[in-house]
Amino acid sequence: MKSSAARARRVALVLAAAVLAAGCANAPSALRTAGPAAGSIAVLWWILLGLGTAVFVAVTGYLLLAALRQPPPDGPRSLVGADERFIAMWGIAIPAVILLVVLVLTIRTGAVTYRPPSEPELTVEVIGHQFWWEVRYPDAGATVVTANEIHVPAGRPVRLVLESADVIHSFWVPELHGKMDQIPGRSNVFWIEADEPGEYRGICAEFCGIQHAQMHFLLIASPEDEFATWLAAQAEEPEDAEAAGVAAGQEVFVQANCIACHAVRGLREPTDVGPDLTHFASRRTLAAGMQENTRENLRAWIRNPHQTKPGTRMPATPLPDDELEALLDYLEALR
Ligand code: CUA
Repeated sequence: MKSSAARARRVALVLAAAVLAAGCANAPSALRTAGPAAGSIAVLWWILLGLGTAVFVAVTGYLLLAALRQPPPDGPRSLVGADERFIAMWGIAIPAVILLVVLVLTIRTGAVTYRPPSEPELTVEVIGHQFWWEVRYPDAGATVVTANEIHVPAGRPVRLVLESADVIHSFWVPELHGKMDQIPGRSNVFWIEADEPGEYRGICAEFCGIQHAQMHFLLIASPEDEFATWLAAQAEEPEDAEAAGVAAGQEVFVQANCIACHAVRGLREPTDVGPDLTHFASRRTLAAGMQENTRENLRAWIRNPHQTKPGTRMPATPLPDDELEALLDYLEALR
């Protein structure tokens, strides 16, 4: 009886480990680098790991040696027959050299990653909210505002201005750069560069409340021309609701008071409460990267966002089925 319970526990542990490992396979890694800054940080990481391993092996070796060796019957009761020279060498000189090397390398990495390799031409403002990311492109006029998805051109540095609307968040795209805090009342200037076009996951790296762990974003680096096309499309107003055949849904959007927190260009001025929905349907995810932006997920999200994301500031919006479907039609037309 007891052994079968123990076996069940073992199986559960193995299964849990397998599930965790599967999750890791998908997680962004600071060691699978895709940008110059992350590359420098990863090199430093490997050097520190190497030094740490060497120190660990040496200390453990001496400890084992000391444990195995019999002290001489009448000699001094020192552990490894050590004299002052041994202590000065291994206890003071070598640690001092190692720490000095680590200090120099760390300062060097800090200096290299602090400034971009060339002056960025594009600025993106990223504002942290509980629990999502507002993204603005001031160079494209004040009009381009999106959420939880940062598009940049690949192969060149982009200036980031990082701010917060409420509490401290921290911006981190592990494959591209280190972390930078987003502090209320401050603008932290940062930069990012992706070597190649691709999608890189970003996360919030500072505990900011109940949904901190689910505060994700997607950084999409595209070839220059694709990025320009994307930016131009985002600067456009969405298609007129009447022309798109979704006027009824727009009416629901206004009546159900979605408009109190969400801007849609041409309908509602920018707000800093909820994400700007002007080109909502062009985005890939919902709820700050938690779910794919599909009609089904969106329906469940509007009905009860707290089921997906407890602690979100968006209230549940109970609507009759026909109104909800019309609202979904409208949101899906915001391309
Ligand atoms: Cu935002 Cu943690």
